[in-house]
Amino acid sequence: MTAQLIDGKLIAQQVRDEVAAIVAKRTAAGKMKPTLATVLVGDRPDSAAYVASKGKACQELGMGSISEHLPADAAQEQVESLVRRLNADPTVSGILVQLPMPSHIDEERVLSLINIEKDVDGFSPLNIGRLAQKGREPLFVPCTPYGCIYLLEKSGVKIEGANAVVLGRSNIVGMPAALLLIGKNATVTVCHSRTKDIAGVVRQADILIAAIGKTEMVRGDWIKPGAAVIDVGINSVPDVTKKSGHRLVGDVNFNEAKEVAGFITPVPGGVGPMTIAMLMKNTLHAAEIQDR
Ligand code: GUN
Repeated sequence: MTAQLIDGKLIAQQVRDEVAAIVAKRTAAGKMKPTLATVLVGDRPDSAAYVASKGKACQELGMGSISEHLPADAAQEQVESLVRRLNADPTVSGILVQLPMPSHIDEERVLSLINIEKDVDGFSPLNIGRLAQKGREPLFVPCTPYGCIYLLEKSGVKIEGANAVVLGRSNIVGMPAALLLIGKNATVTVCHSRTKDIAGVVRQADILIAAIGKTEMVRGDWIKPGAAVIDVGINSVPDVTKKSGHRLVGDVNFNEAKEVAGFITPVPGGVGPMTIAMLMKNTLHAAEIQDR
């Protein structure tokens, strides 16, 4: 193996420790307890698991958590009135509406209702608009892309002037990751399902963020020697040697890529733990904004 492994689990723990220390100080000073409200609509098992681990993280860091759960057939108005109630609740610092919501819900309308000072996911149109504009700062950076950039910077990877390629253009990861990289003066190419010669584009990348949701799509011979590879993919593949019968792999063929890359994140244990760590950081930030 030639690549340096980027240990997301370790770096996420450091972020969590820093957040917990600040929370403890705030609590001792009698300030508002940073509190995250999660909204889950429906019963997708993956979403339920994510929301549960977000609540658990809050407790571990000395923060408050409120979990709201509406049935899969909840009406648009029910979801909207819940968000309005959480906006108005002074004990709630941050609001996270777990995505995707059932298809009959107008997601954009729900997200646009979240008070910008409580938008810890950074998905409200106002926040994304600020992220996209020069000289404007978002109040909150979306958690997964924030984690990707944090891993690059902690590992000493130079972003300014780098050729960065983002695989995938989702609202949650690909698009905000591209905007963040542009803001840090990288030259950014976003690849998606209609891109011609994806392998050829990826071969130019000094930095690759893979968030396309395709099992081990990126092969070792796509990687520029020395490149930094951040793998956001979480794909389940059958594995009879595991008790669960499956294992998680990324969007990058790790065994091939690690022989060529300069830096690489593993799956699991790379970007995954960073998402919740950055959400905790954003929730603390929300409480700090609301102190003022
Ligand atoms: N679904 C998958 N990732 C995320 C995330 O970061 N935030 C929310 N709200 N939903 C998600």
